Amino acid sequence: MSNKTALVTGGTGGLGTAICKALADRGDRVIACYIPSDEETARAWQDQLKDEGYDIQIIAGDVSSFADTQRMIREIEANYGWVDILVNCAGITRDKTLRKMDEKDWEDVVSVNLGSVFNVTRQVIDGMIERGFGRIVNISSVNGQRGQFGQTNYSAAKAGMHGFTMALAQEAARKGVTVNSVSPGYIATSMTAAIPEEIRNQIVAGIPVGRMGDPEDIAHTIAFLTDEKSDYITGANIPVNGGMYMSF
Ligand code: CAA
Repeated sequence: MSNKTALVTGGTGGLGTAICKALADRGDRVIACYIPSDEETARAWQDQLKDEGYDIQIIAGDVSSFADTQRMIREIEANYGWVDILVNCAGITRDKTLRKMDEKDWEDVVSVNLGSVFNVTRQVIDGMIERGFGRIVNISSVNGQRGQFGQTNYSAAKAGMHGFTMALAQEAARKGVTVNSVSPGYIATSMTAAIPEEIRNQIVAGIPVGRMGDPEDIAHTIAFLTDEKSDYITGANIPVNGGMYMSF
């Protein structure tokens, strides 16, 4: 048992579900945050996981709003106690070439993917530093590292997440709080299922491992980074991409 409380934003999504399960498997108390408009789906998700033996709490929160995030964290602290582990996993795509992209496509993607990292982390960082323990993991993307045709908004937001990671890692390094990024490649979720099939097949053909990843590949990495023993890894980015983009 870890006796830690973990908050996973985007917790009811494809990657989020696997992450919630992996953290619950090692004994964390897990809270999944979902978009307020998804109440019904989130309750069904919670029931489904209960049938599978997982007791995961759910909480509504618009992570693109600072005010709503503040309200959400207050509610979590009142009902479950403080957050020891934060996984910033909420993310959306609005894929279009820049010539077709409008202001809303840009703002939605930047505020949900990157703005949320500030909004949520800002609410929990003081407590983590005061208590001398914290694990923060930001789910970035291979496309933040290398760019992707049709994703100027998403690539910019995902690259920005890692800049945030490196800066906060320095601020929190002496306080027992680690801050890292994980950069998934193409993982089998509804997000990649939305890519037109022909384009998806071309992308998969270029992955050295020869297939898309599984959400569990990401969850496994999150469990490792958020382990109490992973206290000397901070400011790092761990790519989990089947060899799609190799760097050091
Ligand atoms: N590189 C270079 N040229 C390309 C290209 C590429 N990768 N893809 C398309 N083109 C070319 C086409 O051949 C075409 O050329 P012509 O005009 O000369 O015929 C032109 O670009 C098409 O441009 P359009 O503006 O008309 O593009 P479109 O509307 O047909 O499609 C798109 C654009 C919707 C972005 C589509 O390319 C697409 O869906 N791409 C995949 C984007 C992607 O990988 N998203 C990842 C989502 S999952 C995720 O994000 C998770 C994660 O972290 C990995």
